[in-house]
Amino acid sequence: MRYEKIANDLFIGNRTRFVAEMKQNTIAILTSNDVKHNNADDVMGFAQNNDLFYLSGIDQEETILILYPEAFKKENREILFIRETNEHIKIWDGEKLTKDQATEVSGVTRVEWLQDFEKVLQLMAFEADGFYLGHNEHIKRVTKDQETQQDRMISWCKEKYPLHEYHRAAKITRKLRPVKSNEEIALIQRAADIGVDSFKRVLKACKPNMREFELEAELTYNMVRSGGSHHAFLPIVASGKNACALHYNTNDSICKDGDMILMDFGVCYANYNSDTTRCIPVNGKFSKRQKEVYASVLHCLKEGSKLLQVGTFPEDYEKEMARLVGTELIRLGLLDAAEVANQNPEKPLYKKYFMHGTAHYLGLDVHDVGLYSRPFEEGMVLTCEPGIYIPEEGIGCRLEDDYLITSTGNINLTKAMPIEIDDIEQLMNN
Ligand code: GLY
Ligand code: MN
Ligand code: MN
Repeated sequence: MRYEKIANDLFIGNRTRFVAEMKQNTIAILTSNDVKHNNADDVMGFAQNNDLFYLSGIDQEETILILYPEAFKKENREILFIRETNEHIKIWDGEKLTKDQATEVSGVTRVEWLQDFEKVLQLMAFEADGFYLGHNEHIKRVTKDQETQQDRMISWCKEKYPLHEYHRAAKITRKLRPVKSNEEIALIQRAADIGVDSFKRVLKACKPNMREFELEAELTYNMVRSGGSHHAFLPIVASGKNACALHYNTNDSICKDGDMILMDFGVCYANYNSDTTRCIPVNGKFSKRQKEVYASVLHCLKEGSKLLQVGTFPEDYEKEMARLVGTELIRLGLLDAAEVANQNPEKPLYKKYFMHGTAHYLGLDVHDVGLYSRPFEEGMVLTCEPGIYIPEEGIGCRLEDDYLITSTGNINLTKAMPIEIDDIEQLMNN
C-alpha cells in the first residue's frame, strides 16, 4: 500500500459499533468490489468496497468478512476470507496478503481462504435467524447493466437460505460512517494537506496559454509523490466559461490571459478523501468583475459554513446558503430584488446561477454515505461549496472547503489552502 499502516484499532472499533446495531442472532456478510474490466485484458484499477474496508481495513480484491457476534463457538464470531495466492499470481501480480498479514491489518483472528467460504458459512448458517447483506444504497447509484459482487451475494444467499430473515448492512453503516473517529479524521486531514500542497504548486506553475491539463499534471504530480493513491474524483480544471459546466473534466482548453480557472479536486489517501475547490486568475491578477463574483462566493462560504454545527438540519443549511447566494446575486446585478421578492418559491430565481447542493458528507466516499434527514452531529465531516456561474460573462466561481463538526462549532480541515484574493495574487506573482 502507498499509505502508512493504519492501526487495526480503527477497524476493531468499527466492528464493535456495527455488531452492537445488529438484530439478535444474525450473521453479517460483507464482500469486496469486483475488479472492473476495461478493454481487452485491461482493468480499471481496484476500488475496495467501502463498507468492507470500514469494517476490516482489507484493501484487496476477493475478500469476504463474516460477523456473527452471537455464534456459539467463539471462532465463528469474526471470520475473514481472502484470496489464496499461488505461483502464477506471484509471478504476474506480486504478493497478496498472507493470513497473518490479514489478521494484522484487520484485527480479525480467524482468516480462511476464499474457496472455503460456502463450506464455513454452512456450518453456522442454520444456527442463525437472519443475514445482513451489503448493498449500495447511495441515492445516485448507477444500476443499469452493473451487477455487483453484492448483487451476486444477495441472489446466492437468498437462493441457498430462503427462509432466513434478510437485513440491510447499509442501514447500519449509513448510521455509523458519517460520524468519524479521530483516526479517520487524521486520514482525511492527511488527504487535505496533500491537496493544499498540490494547489500551491498550481499557483506557482499557472501562466497564460498553458493547457488546463498541464495544471492537472501539477496536482497529480504532488498527489502521487505524497502517497495519495489517486484523485478523489476526476479533477476539474476549467478555465473561463468551462467553469460553468459543473462536471467539466476534459481539461483540454487553453487557459487564456484574463480568464479565471476553477479547480475542483480531491486527494484519496488510505481510501479517505478530501474535496476542495479554488479559483485563480490565469495571469495572476483577478479582473474587477472576477473579484466581485469571487468576493460574493467567499462571503457565502464564510457565512454559510457557520451553520455546520451540531443540531443544524441539512435542509436548513441548504436554505440559508440559497438565501446568502440570492442576496449576492442581487448585489452583483444578476437578479432583481423585486422579482426575487415575488418569485415562485417552487422555482427560485437563484437556481439560474447556483444550481447544485451546498454540502455533502466526506469520508471513504467523496459523496459519503449518510442520511440527509439527520441533524449534524459531532464528528461529521462535510463540505461547504457555494458557487455562482455566469456563462454569458465567461465566469464560473465555486469555493469549497472541508469541515469537521465539533461540540463547539467546526474546524476547517482545508484552512491552509490559500483562498483570500490578496493571498492568491501574491503567491502567483512571487
Ligand atoms: N467535486 C465534487 C463535489 O464537489 O461534490
Ligand atoms: Mn464537494
Ligand atoms: Mn468538489
